Amino acid sequence: MPDPTSSIRDSLQRRFGEAVAIDETLTGLDALARIARRRVHRRYAERPVEPALLRLLCACALSAPSKSDLQQADIVIVNKADQATIADLIPDQPFIRTAPAFLVFLANGRRLPELSRMRGKPFPNDHLDQFFNAAVDAGIVLATFLAAADAVGLGTCPISVIRDHSQRVSDMLKLPQRVIPVAGLCVGWPSDAGHLSARLGLESTLHQDHHDEGDLAARIDAYDRRRAAIHGYKPRDPARWGEAMFYGWSEDKARQYGVPQRADFGAFVRRKGFCLD
Ligand SMILES: Cc1cc2nc3c(=O)[nH]c(=O)nc-3n(C[C@H](O)[C@H](O)[C@H](O)COP(=O)(O)O)c2cc1C
Repeated sequence: MPDPTSSIRDSLQRRFGEAVAIDETLTGLDALARIARRRVHRRYAERPVEPALLRLLCACALSAPSKSDLQQADIVIVNKADQATIADLIPDQPFIRTAPAFLVFLANGRRLPELSRMRGKPFPNDHLDQFFNAAVDAGIVLATFLAAADAVGLGTCPISVIRDHSQRVSDMLKLPQRVIPVAGLCVGWPSDAGHLSARLGLESTLHQDHHDEGDLAARIDAYDRRRAAIHGYKPRDPARWGEAMFYGWSEDKARQYGVPQRADFGAFVRRKGFCLD
């Protein structure tokens, strides 16, 4: 295992295509090395994840910060029968079936108006911000779970595709009004190393003093080339989109979002009782 400084340097160089300065006297470099080299894992060993370990990781994840201490995120540890049903709904993501454990992270916008009702108070805040806060809380809890799982050597892969079947998942998990699924999560002991995926250059996503898009087209092009040199793509739906002269990240994302995705999600969220105005 390389020392943490070399590991961070190497990971960030591969991730962003540039050197990031590291103060070698910092404490916590092991933790940073872990964060810098993280990646999703979709292949798992046939080894169970003990329920006690899952519970420990969930408790750590739910220790995440929460907007105004409102605590609007929940987790469901999904049973094997429901996991298999969800896997049946999403046949092109076979790791949902093979994952030793499957969780669903929820935005819970129910408790807060219930508190108002219990305490005989008005609730004049039924608008988009409440949905947004609950969804952000759920995302932070999800990210904290990923870090906790990574720390003990588990691999994870979030699954937003469960939202293609929001109503089914909601019924299956008995989600009450104002509680919605944000993402599923495959959890297991990785059976291979996975790969570190390159990110947009820091000049695109890290800004000093003010936002600066720069020459967006040139930056995207440079990223596409850098990324393709590390890890190629299997072209998405060539029958529909044809052959690309060069197939990179931007072509892939443009194809992905060139077909409608979850156009009914807003209707589902409203049906679940959230106001999105
Ligand atoms: C909220 C969220 C939802 C995701 N949903 C899916 C999914 O449905 N299926 C999947 O295979 N990967 C999913 N991913 C994983 C991403 O594809 C992955 O993070 C991305 O390709 C970058 O790879 P990396 O995490 O290894 O750097 C999701 C990730 C996040 C954060």
